[in-house]
Amino acid sequence: MRGKEDFLALILFLVHCILLSQAVISINNGGYVGIVVAIHKNVPEDEQLVSNIKELFTEASSYLNTTTKGQVYFKEIIVAVPSTWSSKPGYEVVQKNYFPTADIKVDHPNPYHENNPYTLQPGGCGEPGQYIHLTPTFVKELHTKTLEKYGNAERHLVHEWAHLRYGVFDEYGLPGDPNYPAFYQENDKIVPTSCKQGITGWIESSGGGPCSITIDGTVNEDCRFIPDLSNEDAKASVMYLPYIPSITGFCDHTDNQLHNALAPTKHNNLCHNQPTWTVINKHPDFSRRFKRSVGFTSTKPKFRIVQSQPGSEGRYVLVLDVSRSMSVLKSRGEAAEGGLIILITDGEENVEPYVSQVLPKLQQQKVTVNAIAFGNKATRKLEDLTKLTGGKGFFFADIQGNQPTNALDSAFMDSVTSQADLEFRPVQIADTIIRLFSSKTIKNITLDKELGKNTVFTFTSEDIKDINIILVSPSGKIYDVNSPEYTKDDRIKLRLEIKIPDAEAGQWMVAILWSKFIPGVASFSLTSEPNDPRIQPVRVRSWLSDVQLKYPSHAKVYAEIKKGYNAVIGATVKATIDRPMGSPVDVLLRDNGAGPDVTKNDGIYSGYFTQFNGNGRYAVVANVINDGNAKLRRGSPSSSLIPITKFKNPADKEKKNASAAFTRDEFVVTVKPQRPNKVDEEPIEVFERTSNAGALRLDNYSPNDIDIIPPGRVTDLVMVSSEQIDEQKLVTLRWTSPGDDLDVGNASFVDLRASCVVEDIIKRFHEVDNFNESLVMKGSLDPLPPGEEQEITVEVPNAIWNAKSNSTIDYTRIDVYFSLRIVDERNNLGDLSNIVVGHFKKIPFVLLEEEPSTEWRVYVFGIGAATLLIVVIVVTCRNKGKINRCTETSLTNSA
Ligand SMILES: *[C@@H]1O[C@H](CO)[C@@H](O)[C@H](O)[C@H]1NC(C)=O
Ligand SMILES: *[C@@H]1O[C@H](CO)[C@@H](O)[C@H](O)[C@H]1NC(C)=O
Ligand SMILES: *[C@@H]1O[C@H](CO)[C@@H](O)[C@H](O)[C@H]1NC(C)=O
Ligand SMILES: *[C@@H]1O[C@H](CO)[C@@H](O)[C@H](O)[C@H]1NC(C)=O
Ligand SMILES: *[C@@H]1O[C@H](CO)[C@@H](O)[C@H](O)[C@H]1NC(C)=O
Repeated sequence: MRGKEDFLALILFLVHCILLSQAVISINNGGYVGIVVAIHKNVPEDEQLVSNIKELFTEASSYLNTTTKGQVYFKEIIVAVPSTWSSKPGYEVVQKNYFPTADIKVDHPNPYHENNPYTLQPGGCGEPGQYIHLTPTFVKELHTKTLEKYGNAERHLVHEWAHLRYGVFDEYGLPGDPNYPAFYQENDKIVPTSCKQGITGWIESSGGGPCSITIDGTVNEDCRFIPDLSNEDAKASVMYLPYIPSITGFCDHTDNQLHNALAPTKHNNLCHNQPTWTVINKHPDFSRRFKRSVGFTSTKPKFRIVQSQPGSEGRYVLVLDVSRSMSVLKSRGEAAEGGLIILITDGEENVEPYVSQVLPKLQQQKVTVNAIAFGNKATRKLEDLTKLTGGKGFFFADIQGNQPTNALDSAFMDSVTSQADLEFRPVQIADTIIRLFSSKTIKNITLDKELGKNTVFTFTSEDIKDINIILVSPSGKIYDVNSPEYTKDDRIKLRLEIKIPDAEAGQWMVAILWSKFIPGVASFSLTSEPNDPRIQPVRVRSWLSDVQLKYPSHAKVYAEIKKGYNAVIGATVKATIDRPMGSPVDVLLRDNGAGPDVTKNDGIYSGYFTQFNGNGRYAVVANVINDGNAKLRRGSPSSSLIPITKFKNPADKEKKNASAAFTRDEFVVTVKPQRPNKVDEEPIEVFERTSNAGALRLDNYSPNDIDIIPPGRVTDLVMVSSEQIDEQKLVTLRWTSPGDDLDVGNASFVDLRASCVVEDIIKRFHEVDNFNESLVMKGSLDPLPPGEEQEITVEVPNAIWNAKSNSTIDYTRIDVYFSLRIVDERNNLGDLSNIVVGHFKKIPFVLLEEEPSTEWRVYVFGIGAATLLIVVIVVTCRNKGKINRCTETSLTNSA
């Protein structure tokens, strides 16, 4: 019954209101529509920014068409200027605040990136990013400093767009990065990390002059590769250095743009060595459904310049799942403009109009729907509604019972403030359930120094009349039933509130007095606002990778912890998941750059959830505490582009011809430089937070006692060292251990293998030589518990790099590739890790197939009385002098 009124209400609402869009990009005949570029309120008014944005996107649209081989372009772009700017005749007046959900944000710099554009890209391969950040300086100086420093800005914009829309990663390395170094070794050569082989250029140290290298082949951090901008052969890749003029596409399988699967790029690691174009082509935008039916004749985008009215933040329409909701709606009338519907429902969908009938209309009108669903009967279609309109769903199982619900306040707050500027939103410090076992329960809670304004302590319970609260402020001030701040409604709302306009920072004591003799329960929430919007508190934002899943499957849970653009690292982050049955489970989220977490120390903590126990909704809440280990970093790293590298000493250019690979004699050999400890971080005060990540729905569940979920993938395998003592070759490898089921539980075995043929590792891993315990010199092949760093030293047997070939190509060094996968007790195999390479000196007269066999032979000769005993030591060296397979195959690695 209730479902009916709901959707009827939605329809009426749509008919009566003019709605404005939420940022949900769609594609129409190859043209992207609905892209929002929004300028932040604090950016000073400047007409030039708007005209430069138009120019930038017009150029980018044409380059996007070129690089996608004529398939897609930017068709319509909404440029949102802030309400703080003066209004202009050309601006469309809107009620919506576009900034919080914009695809491209023009905002003051993230200190880590300064004016370099970047994309916030916390998901895995093929998953979309969240937004592109451009700074006002970058846009404003488009024709001057930006051009000089970056080359054509539109090319960088297409690079960022590919991060944002298609979920591909960078194809360059970074100086000093252990996983994605700027140079790597291939046989005898030192090669700059790039997607395509053969891009020529020069190398120079940052101070001018030759670069240095350590004996084991690590290129010093201050060495830069300066590409030859006149090289016409460099056709790819946009994800490498798009400022190279000849680059007109992404790496693929064609000769001109041939992908180099060997390069240690973030893209190769996270996308399993697939070319960027292969990943992009799998995106639904390039599926037949969206392919253009008739060719477009122009790539010039249409621009709509919109300006929100002051105070248009936080406009939303609450659609209640009760018959009263209609009159609610009518009285709101015009004020409903804002495009957000908060749908509260506990109903099943059994009367028309159904979601499937409403949805196209909502999408067409670009209305966002947030749903707050109660009980298991809430319609199964809610996820379609929220997902396809860019909204978020929350779920509460227990509303019918006497149990208070966890994190209901945060769900409401998240919805009603979702269009307000972030700086002004209240912060949820706690939203939790407190069990009352005795007459007095004490809870201590810290209010951080940036907060205090409009602080609200809220308690809800069926038994609120039996509850009394005493608050003691950090300085000892007492708030109780006699204080004017104290209100209690024990009839309708069953709610007790203490509202303090200017609360003291520090540790508060909350005493909950309970007058019944049986145990009770209450929910407790604490919110507060920043004292000064210019000094931002730590804020937590959490979300789920998916809201609809079909078993068997897994979900990823994310929590971003930042103070402005600065990352908070080292916090303890736990996601609590309420399941359709039984007790909730906790999942630890980590910011360690391993497994589901694609960037280490960026303030985004990630984790897998696999512990499903039935069909239905799973509600996820993230709880964050700083137990003393958290630190604040300056800025937060993300996929960022590289400005043009220029010669420090122009004479260096004349000394050598441009080259795609370098020999060791072009470097100065030095000892390993002591890496300067230049990490910009500071301790941060104690804090705690709660954030509601929303809910997901699982279907197709089949109860299964058998473990079918494989261990997680190792994404951060590094070669710590490789050494060679005579013929003995040792390598030390390090990685972060995943778990038995993705990142949960202890797995049982590390399947480590090596080959001198990289294709064999990628395509025939199970056939190449594996390492067993007898080759382990230090550490073990038993996996450590999830999240721990594991290190192992193994001996590389000669058999791995010997044998089979009769190639006559001679190298002085041999490359051996290593990769591993984690196996669980049921023999479920984790995905293959990233690949690392060790370099060994070739030893003349390598022994093949067999170890040298030493035997003693005793010959006895009798000559008369004398018996001569001759002992002959025979050393058999079979296959002596053959050249091994590694030397040959390293030539074929680009296939
Ligand atoms: C789009 O790119 C293709 C391939 O480079 C080109 O042939 C075509 O002319 C471009 N279309 C427009 C409208 O510029
Ligand atoms: C550069 O290449 C040209 C032509 O291949 C050659 O004549 C010249 O010697 C090279 N210069 C250097 C510095 O190697
Ligand atoms: C995982 O292994 C560690 C020690 O290696 C042990 O302390 C822990 O209890 C194990 N965890 C489980 C779930 O078995
Ligand atoms: C371990 O590996 C070595 C070299 O591949 C092999 O000779 C040995 O038989 C293996 N040992 C076991 C117990 O499998
Ligand atoms: C050795 O070389 C010969 C002649 O080049 C070739 O036919 C043969 O296939 C090679 N054998 C191996 C094992 O590569």
